[in-house]
Amino acid sequence: MTNSEQQSALITGGNKGLGFEAARRLAEQGWSIFLGSRDEGRGRAAAEKLIAGGANVVMVPLDVTSDESVAEAVRLVREHTTRLDVLINNAGAPGHAIAPADATIDEIHPVYDTNVYGPIRVTQAFLPLLQAADHPRVVMVSSAGGSFAVVTDPAQPVSKMHELAYSSSKAALNMITVRYAQALPNIRFNAVTPGEVANHTFAATDMNNHTGQLTATEGTDSIVKLAMAPADGPTGTFTDRLGPVAW
Ligand SMILES: NC(=O)c1ccc[n+]([C@@H]2O[C@H](COP(=O)([O-])OP(=O)(O)OC[C@H]3O[C@@H](n4cnc5c(N)ncnc54)[C@H](OP(=O)(O)O)[C@@H]3O)[C@@H](O)[C@H]2O)c1
Repeated sequence: MTNSEQQSALITGGNKGLGFEAARRLAEQGWSIFLGSRDEGRGRAAAEKLIAGGANVVMVPLDVTSDESVAEAVRLVREHTTRLDVLINNAGAPGHAIAPADATIDEIHPVYDTNVYGPIRVTQAFLPLLQAADHPRVVMVSSAGGSFAVVTDPAQPVSKMHELAYSSSKAALNMITVRYAQALPNIRFNAVTPGEVANHTFAATDMNNHTGQLTATEGTDSIVKLAMAPADGPTGTFTDRLGPVAW
């Protein structure tokens, strides 16, 4: 499926929202897309939509909370290619915005399983395919809610949201990005947030009941930019579509 010039990307949670839009935009550039979806039916419907527009897309059943599913996804991707240029760890779980005093492990665990262990599980499993690429890149889709600077800034609405699971999971993801970037300098690892931190905005998707001020296309600007970063591009950074975001 891939040739030496054509770029390839695997996007987790590619069946809707920002993952789907990132898939659409990269496919438009002529990339081969492995569209991850934990639900085969939803994934197939999303892939068919892109294929109908001329895109080169393979739907990959992929639940980021399952070792077995991730291993099976590696096997399927290997049927199509010997290398993976870009991994976009996009799949995310918002949790239920339960206040810290009431947030039990039953609330925290599934959010961490998706937002923290998920990107580790998927990154580790796809490292051999990534390392076979000329200049591999991994994009971690984080959140402004994972920034200590943002959450402790009284001017930021998120500072007034009393929540434990989601924000701490994305803070962990930010550190995971930095640690991978330091340890694996041949791979560009960058964390991005889909909103505009300076303007207190985010992108309208199902995750926020479409209350966001930005479109899904604007929300994917930072994702697409880092997916397309050149060999000497940044690594270990945290940005939104406007530029650097404070950790
Ligand atoms: N929208 C924003 O402005 C914003 C701001 C900050 C951060 N983010 C981050 O952006 C990413 C994408 O979110 P979105 O806004 O596009 O929300 P969305 O439309 O709700 O999409 C979330 C995606 O994640 C998938 N997913 C959830 N759990 C999964 C699992 N265990 N395995 C595989 N896929 C799973 C969902 O699949 P199903 O369809 O099967 O549920 C869906 O495809 C998330 O990481 C989110 O935290 C978004």
